[in-house]
Amino acid sequence: MAESGRIEAELIDVIALVERNVVSGSPSGRSYGHLELVLDRQIEILPAQFAMIKPRRLAEPLLRRAMAFYRVRNSESQTIVEFIYQIVGRGTDALAGLKPGEEVAFLGPLGNTFSEGHRDAVLVAGGAGSPALFMLAEELKRHRRSVRLFIGGASKGDLCGLSDFEALLGRESITTTTIDGSYGIQGLISQPLENYLSGVDRSSCEVFSCGPEPMLERVSELCEQFEVPAQLSLESPMACGFGICVGCAVAVKANVAEGFVYKRVCVDGPVFRSDELYSVRTMHNA
Ligand SMILES: Cc1cc2nc3c(=O)[nH]c(=O)nc-3n(C[C@H](O)[C@H](O)[C@H](O)COP(=O)(O)OP(=O)(O)OC[C@H]3O[C@@H](n4cnc5c(N)ncnc54)[C@H](O)[C@@H]3O)c2cc1C
Ligand code: FES
Repeated sequence: MAESGRIEAELIDVIALVERNVVSGSPSGRSYGHLELVLDRQIEILPAQFAMIKPRRLAEPLLRRAMAFYRVRNSESQTIVEFIYQIVGRGTDALAGLKPGEEVAFLGPLGNTFSEGHRDAVLVAGGAGSPALFMLAEELKRHRRSVRLFIGGASKGDLCGLSDFEALLGRESITTTTIDGSYGIQGLISQPLENYLSGVDRSSCEVFSCGPEPMLERVSELCEQFEVPAQLSLESPMACGFGICVGCAVAVKANVAEGFVYKRVCVDGPVFRSDELYSVRTMHNA
């Protein structure tokens, strides 16, 4: 984990091969794919970093889609990278059609990573945001840090990566909520998080979060209220992924008349300290 949150890693634009692509549905009506790609070289990938990917055979959609690395395995000559994606539109629908052996246009790794502190880690994940926190959980465990996960979704099938988180952290370290009550506590994840933060020694913990913007807004408010430092990984819609189009802008606080300036989520993020953000809503959704 980089102290500064900035990284030095080789960016590659290559063809990856599909190893596995499994699509499943949730009772909430949402669908998800679990995609495994093989890259013909070793690359270093840090928690919260992402790739821009699309099926190579398709001209449409033109642009690749941003996906957080879920898990990474390196061998001597290759890297296997995994993604969990929610199918929401044309790009992710195209990913769902990928078959083993097919070629994927891959650009990555992109973006910064979380900055490590020395406090107990509280991870807060919502829906398709949870894959972006799995490598962080692995790294924190490797560093023997205390990790507690709060994970919420519409239904049990929307708790992306839950079984892997349970195997890694143990069920006792995980609080789960579903809106339909099919798993864990019924409701939003912000409620047990609030209960937890109001009872814990606040000087001993820090929050790392990824999920839908309304959830990140609430996490941000709670962390401000309880004076707990928080880092948020933002998932704004992106066109280029490497700083050229400015389509991913987010407002950060600044000492100017407007009170903010824009930063690009793809190169200045996706991880931001919650207290530096003017709004967690990216320009696209503001
Ligand atoms: C750094 C980063 C990491 C990401 N990691 C993941 C991940 O691990 N798993 C995952 O499922 N998704 C992830 N996303 C979001 C993913 O990139 C989008 O869901 C995807 O680009 C949608 O493409 P589409 O063509 O299928 O949908 P579109 O046709 O582009 O859009 C369909 C609908 O979804 C909305 N939408 C599109 N993109 C987003 C977005 N980023 N946030 C909110 N609403 C959006 C649109 O407004 C529209 O209503 C990540 C995004 C970023 C920036
Ligand atoms: S996606 Fe193009 S500048 Fe960020």
